[in-house]
Amino acid sequence: MKILMVTSEAVPFAKTGGLADAVSALSLNLKKMGHDVRIVMPRYYKIDRAKLKPIEAAIKVHAGTEPTWVKFYESLLPDSKVPVYFIDHEGCYGRDGIYGTKWEPDFGDNPYRAAVLCHGAFELCRYLGWYPDIMHAHDWFTCLIPVLLRNVCRNGYFAHTASVLTIHNLGYQGVYGKDKFPALGLDWNLYYGAGLEHNGAFNFLQAGISCADMITTVSPTYAWEMSTPEGGFGLDGLIRVRSDAVRGVLNGCDLETWNPKTDKLLPANFDHKDLSGKAICKKELQSVFGLPEVPNLPVVGMVTRLADQKGIAEVFGPGYGCLYSLCNNLGLQFVLLGSGEKWCEDEIQALEAKLPNFKAKLGYDEKLSHLIEAGSDFFLMPSRYEPCGLNQMYSMLYGTLPIVRRTGGLADTVEQYNEQTGEGTGFLFDALTPGAIYDTVGWAMYAYYNQKDHIKKMQKKGMQKNFSWEQSVNGYLDVYSQALMNGCGINTADWK
Ligand code: ADP
Ligand code: GLC
Repeated sequence: MKILMVTSEAVPFAKTGGLADAVSALSLNLKKMGHDVRIVMPRYYKIDRAKLKPIEAAIKVHAGTEPTWVKFYESLLPDSKVPVYFIDHEGCYGRDGIYGTKWEPDFGDNPYRAAVLCHGAFELCRYLGWYPDIMHAHDWFTCLIPVLLRNVCRNGYFAHTASVLTIHNLGYQGVYGKDKFPALGLDWNLYYGAGLEHNGAFNFLQAGISCADMITTVSPTYAWEMSTPEGGFGLDGLIRVRSDAVRGVLNGCDLETWNPKTDKLLPANFDHKDLSGKAICKKELQSVFGLPEVPNLPVVGMVTRLADQKGIAEVFGPGYGCLYSLCNNLGLQFVLLGSGEKWCEDEIQALEAKLPNFKAKLGYDEKLSHLIEAGSDFFLMPSRYEPCGLNQMYSMLYGTLPIVRRTGGLADTVEQYNEQTGEGTGFLFDALTPGAIYDTVGWAMYAYYNQKDHIKKMQKKGMQKNFSWEQSVNGYLDVYSQALMNGCGINTADWK
């Protein structure tokens, strides 16, 4: 199959979260199976033009009210033959930040920036004379792909192209005032006709869900949660209407990057048969964070965006978060790597000054995230909601037991500890309260000190879990076939 991924993030070029990991890993794995998969994304300011190959043509894109001229650059995903096309437009992407900055979290011209990417994706195909079977959009920024395909472009060369939208996070929808609609380069009849209108404004994600031939999200449990008023962020009704086209396909992990046996970012490697390297990683972790290098003190780690979604208020919230009691009462060390909301960063600094066994690094640090996964004994993810979550899977693979809220992909990947048998791969709780987090971390600490054989058994089980992309890729291939049937009446069974 010919597949074009349209995305605002892909590792190693641009990343704010798991979306970037998922898009690149899915593409690499589709390629391995012999599919012709390509990626198109913006050339952000930080992506060095000198390392890319220019495509010598100026291409006209129909976003906004005036024609926009863009250029494209080309590269490959590292160690692969997956082409990545970068759309280059100084006015749109020639600045710091992917969606915004600390000072301007959501750029005012994001509707235009998103529209240039999506219109540009179609123009790129025309320029290359390469027409994909599937245009696969990811999250709100690329939702004009299904909108354009269904309402504008599905004729001529795109008559046999279907769209798939993957929702990595329903909480980010791209909602903007009606005055910004002209930035999209769409006819006004699509304001209502394509499902953009939403309470007097327009909503990218809503339109994408309305128009896509198939919709996926990144875990089966989240697929169900999106259809409930609690998890639907106002779009649950629409999700229920489109339920026949919605699937949950669990993300895999990039096992070349996240493998404790070969991970080059660690001071020592290890596997489930020999965990001695993990002890070296723990020592290094304690040293990097300036904690006493005590081997028998449990280390609880966290690597996270500091966003409400991640349950940060219940851990670090001023006056009521549980961190203070965790660190004072439970005989543990706590390390955090994260960045995000300012109130939370401030609170973390204040807590660090009061708690000698709590250390934090505020910022983004790939290498340190590997060390935390490897060197910690436990990994905390008390997410309010979690479409899939990657860190709990990385943790299990690195022999670090996840302590997670039973939601979305966390519920689908972590098996509850059974204190009778020692079965399980981690610790789950339901209520998003500081008390529930405290109790569950306390439960884990009890097991650490009193049930060492259970801890070992769980570590080994987690490390042998199969979180590869292979099964997920098969899930996506089914979705692609269904999209071609829904959108174009094409039965891919006839291809064989
Ligand atoms: P989300 O995409 O919602 O943030 P995921 O668990 O799917 O959550 O993915 C988060 C990814 O981003 C993981 O690969 C994680 O290691 C990484 N990450 C998050 N914050 C940081 C940070 N401060 N430094 C390094 N990596 C981070
Ligand atoms: C989003 C979700 C996260 C998921 C990631 C990759 O950022 O918040 O749960 O793992 O996308 O699909």
